[in-house]
Amino acid sequence: MRHITLTEETLADAIAEAVAALRDGALVALPTETVYGLAADAANGEAVARIFEAKGRPRFNPLISHVADPAMARHYGLFDARAERLAAEFWPGPLSLVLPRADGAPVHPLVTAGLPSVALRVPRGPARDVIAALGGALAAPSANLSGRVSPTRAAHVVDQLGDAIAIVLDAGPCAVGLESTIVSLTGDKPRLLRPGGVPAEDVERVLGTRLERAKAGDAVTAPGMLASHYAPRLPLRLNATSVAPEEALLTFGDAAISGADEAAAMLNLSASGDLVEAAANVFAHLAVLDDSGAEAIAVAPIPADGLGEAINDRLKRAAVR
Ligand code: TXA
Ligand code: MG
Repeated sequence: MRHITLTEETLADAIAEAVAALRDGALVALPTETVYGLAADAANGEAVARIFEAKGRPRFNPLISHVADPAMARHYGLFDARAERLAAEFWPGPLSLVLPRADGAPVHPLVTAGLPSVALRVPRGPARDVIAALGGALAAPSANLSGRVSPTRAAHVVDQLGDAIAIVLDAGPCAVGLESTIVSLTGDKPRLLRPGGVPAEDVERVLGTRLERAKAGDAVTAPGMLASHYAPRLPLRLNATSVAPEEALLTFGDAAISGADEAAAMLNLSASGDLVEAAANVFAHLAVLDDSGAEAIAVAPIPADGLGEAINDRLKRAAVR
């Protein structure tokens, strides 16, 4: 891991190094005004899978896509008048907007957790320079292990994730120290999904309307985590060791599944049994099999270790009807 302290002298080379690492599919820890982010190229599914692996996150919750400016953001999300107003007022800054995903948005389904929406924000500081130099969005949750507090100093990142990242850019302590405020504009009424660095009242003042808030007890359905968001139309049968001719098969590695030759359709999450590759494929493969004309999807057993935990969590949610 390279720990680069940013100064006027090191900045240009550090940005070039970070971009090269990101293009390679590596993870880079970047300072933003809120907290340090664990960044990957948002278009690279295996790189994004490594974020979940590195954090030890037990589930694939959707990630914020960090963009350089509103023009870049428009390639990813559909902006209505409310979104335009908030972007003009608060970007760059600690406000994330959840918008309907734009057609052809260059963002891997693992970033959006297969949802038809995308969370976007323009960060302040060197992270923005890295995004502009890369020319595309960075997916970045906070750069801490799952269950630990968000890091506001590079040393916190090195302690927890030093082995998993290629580079940490060190710009000293984060100015805000609190995650971004998340506002969803996917419905008629704007909704506060997470309070954060921009006071909700400031957002309400600019919108000229109240934000809907999650009620107490809603906490279990963290933003974007509703089981129903994830369900394919077809019923899912997990830990299948055989498949019927009218079923599609989602398999893994060299699992021996009887009837596989006659299955209505078949896709392998990773023929070589690589959980990083499997994580990158899970949303897209489910969508393809859902449209395959089969009557149900049989899913081979997936190992429970490492990223397997999040993959199995995703599949269990998809099986809820
Ligand atoms: O300040 C921040 O926002 C930091 C820095 C690194 O930018 N990032 C951050 O990311 O806190 P993360 O992944 O820890 O939080 C992302 C939040 C999650 O609560 C997730 O559920 C929500 O954003 N989210 C992302 N995409 C969503 C979507 N399409 N719909 C609903 N919620 C979404
Ligand atoms: Mg976090």
